Amino acid sequence: MSTTPPATRPRPVPAVSSVLIDDIGVLATNDTALGAGELGEVAGAALVVESGRVAWCGPRSRAPAADVRVDAAGRCVIPGFVDSHSHIVFAGDRSREFGARMSGRPYEAGGIRTTVAATRGASDTELLGNATRLLREARAQGTTTLEVKSGYGLSVADEERCLRAAARLTGEVTFLGAHVVPPEYEGDPDGYVDLVTGAMLEACAPHARWVDVFCERGAFDEDQARRVLRAGRERGLLPRVHGNQLGHGPGVRLAVQEGAASVDHCTHLADGDVAALADSAAGAGPATVATLLPGVDFSTRQPYPDARALLDAGARVALAGDCNPGSCFTSSMALCIALAVREMRMTPEEAVRAATAGGAQALRRDDVGRLSAGARADIVLLEAPNPVYLAYRPGVPQVAAVWKDGELVAGRP
Ligand code: NIG
Ligand code: FE
Repeated sequence: MSTTPPATRPRPVPAVSSVLIDDIGVLATNDTALGAGELGEVAGAALVVESGRVAWCGPRSRAPAADVRVDAAGRCVIPGFVDSHSHIVFAGDRSREFGARMSGRPYEAGGIRTTVAATRGASDTELLGNATRLLREARAQGTTTLEVKSGYGLSVADEERCLRAAARLTGEVTFLGAHVVPPEYEGDPDGYVDLVTGAMLEACAPHARWVDVFCERGAFDEDQARRVLRAGRERGLLPRVHGNQLGHGPGVRLAVQEGAASVDHCTHLADGDVAALADSAAGAGPATVATLLPGVDFSTRQPYPDARALLDAGARVALAGDCNPGSCFTSSMALCIALAVREMRMTPEEAVRAATAGGAQALRRDDVGRLSAGARADIVLLEAPNPVYLAYRPGVPQVAAVWKDGELVAGRP
């Protein structure tokens, strides 16, 4: 049955259905079939957004018509950063621990317990408020996809409420009940692993996509970490690993063996670890990505990972921020890019790719981390003529505007 609206009803305002971002000096598509170099760069470009997706991109002389035009005025456009590692659901402050570290105290996994105590004492509202502020802070700096972990609750109820908060903010939610052994299980790590793989996993799995474990001296050993990953997989969660952060260890090999999407930190790698990551990249299945977190190495005064060895061997590399109160309290992917270029000998283009397409691969996503037809319209307009400026002007805010799913969420074009 068809009905005619009454004549008095106001006419609907026509929705803007397409937006043309025009006069882009350099567009980094991350699609090497579309443009030059590592970033698939198109000079003198334009991009059309429709229904939250990239409908078209290419040389502006060939741009189709659109309802609204945004003038990039010769500036650079890149895909939004895909930051595949954060711990932003927490309460408390560890700035004094950072201060002590800068005076010579080493970083130890045990500091995590300080944040656990503060997080357990915080209300749900406080935890969500803290995490929301950090997410907005990251977004204003160009991060359009952010993975968020639990790991500061470490009881069934506290892990679950941290994950509920994370799930309010992102679809990339990770259960990290196996972050460290909490004080009430001191001396009984296997008993704690029983809890993590039992009642805690039952309560947490419905809120998460991923399961993670800190496989490191002072946290969980190889057998314990394997149990956690396998139990998570049986409950439908995909594995990822914190490994080789504080010293050489089994984390990387475990991650590759278990088919983890990513092994994060990779600060201390043996030749066999590099080879395992390269083999996984060359294999038929999805690779285990080496996710490097240079902000952590900066803030804990550790050596930086050997990105060159990984890239030259053919491993897949991502850069992520690891925003957390202990080892790295930054939300700046631009800082990570600058560190990767200056300290880890990545080229500026490799670093920008690792912070966008690399992060997408570490999250097994193909709808983000690129700007080509069909991708989500997660777009960053830089106050800069090309992507090299992200490393060339360290510490300088250069994000002019950020769109997520085609919607302007920060800044102004
Ligand atoms: O990724 N390595 C383990 N977890 C965090 C540190 C957490 C903390 O110190 O509070 C990391 O560095
Ligand atoms: Fe971490």
